Amino acid sequence: LSSKFKDHIKIYTTRIDDGLNSVLPPISSTPERLHDAMRYAVFNGGKRIRPLLVYAAGESLNVNVKLLDVPAMAIELIHAFSLIHDDLPAMDDDDLRRGKPAVHKQYDEATAILAADALQPLAFSILTNIRGGPQNAATRLVRLLSEACGSIGMTGGQFIDLASEGKKLTTNEIEHMYSLKTGALIHAAIMSASILSGDVCRDGVKALDNFGKIIGIAFQIKDDILDVVGKTETIGKPAKSDEYQNKATYPALFGIKEAESRCNELLNEALNELSYFGKSGDSLAWLAKFIVERGL
Ligand code: IPE
Ligand code: IPE
Ligand code: MG
Ligand code: MG
Ligand code: MG
Repeated sequence: LSSKFKDHIKIYTTRIDDGLNSVLPPISSTPERLHDAMRYAVFNGGKRIRPLLVYAAGESLNVNVKLLDVPAMAIELIHAFSLIHDDLPAMDDDDLRRGKPAVHKQYDEATAILAADALQPLAFSILTNIRGGPQNAATRLVRLLSEACGSIGMTGGQFIDLASEGKKLTTNEIEHMYSLKTGALIHAAIMSASILSGDVCRDGVKALDNFGKIIGIAFQIKDDILDVVGKTETIGKPAKSDEYQNKATYPALFGIKEAESRCNELLNEALNELSYFGKSGDSLAWLAKFIVERGL
């Protein structure tokens, strides 16, 4: 993976951090501890993959970067809320996130639940800040994101994940669960750019739609592989947590080799979809490779 792209991406991560810093309530405002926990959850070292996908999809469609800030921020806020809940004792019961205590450990369970509760509506409220862009863009973005994070999206996928512990799922069932719990938000990140690009042709939208669906599944398979082969110090979350929780994961049910080959197959399928965009799809291609090839 070329370092040129790393520099390119740094511009976007700085941009998203500045934006998030400006929309999150200051710690000095009441209730201070809740605002502190919200900021802790957002600024503790995430990769910012979903915002990066928003910007990269925007490049492929030539969307003004200023329009992309709002969905990029909103999706990262929803992601942060989902991780707080995912780590709670009632869910994956993980104490470490991004190499630091999970929010419920750093604060307490009630504060963690409430910080997540507050991050979610903040995401939707900033979507109404869209200025310019196609007509009805804000309304369409609210619909896209609310479906992606609700019971037919991320939350539904998280429910299926918990209900599947200890079960032997088929590959189709696993990939369906992944497409909801992880894929839905990643897909929404990519499609938000198409909403903001007034005149995208049908083939372009379809290519992004397929790309988004494929790369979301690959993302979760890779996460599961890292859970098995990674070390706690490098992945920043408790290694082997999935085995400990008896999670139905691709590597647990079909082995690491099978999981790796499926991941690479999905990467190739995803890259094929991008051929439509030529050079303007380079950033998306780089991110797709990063998702599948990122190391320990
Ligand atoms: C972790 O997502 C949760 C999954 C959907 C697998 P990321 O790997 O994007 O987490 P951060 O934001 O970089 O920590
Ligand atoms: C999380 O999947 C998916 C979410 C929607 C948060 P995991 O439970 O595998 O994510 P990590 O490994 O804890 O980040
Ligand atoms: Mg989980
Ligand atoms: Mg988890
Ligand atoms: Mg995981």
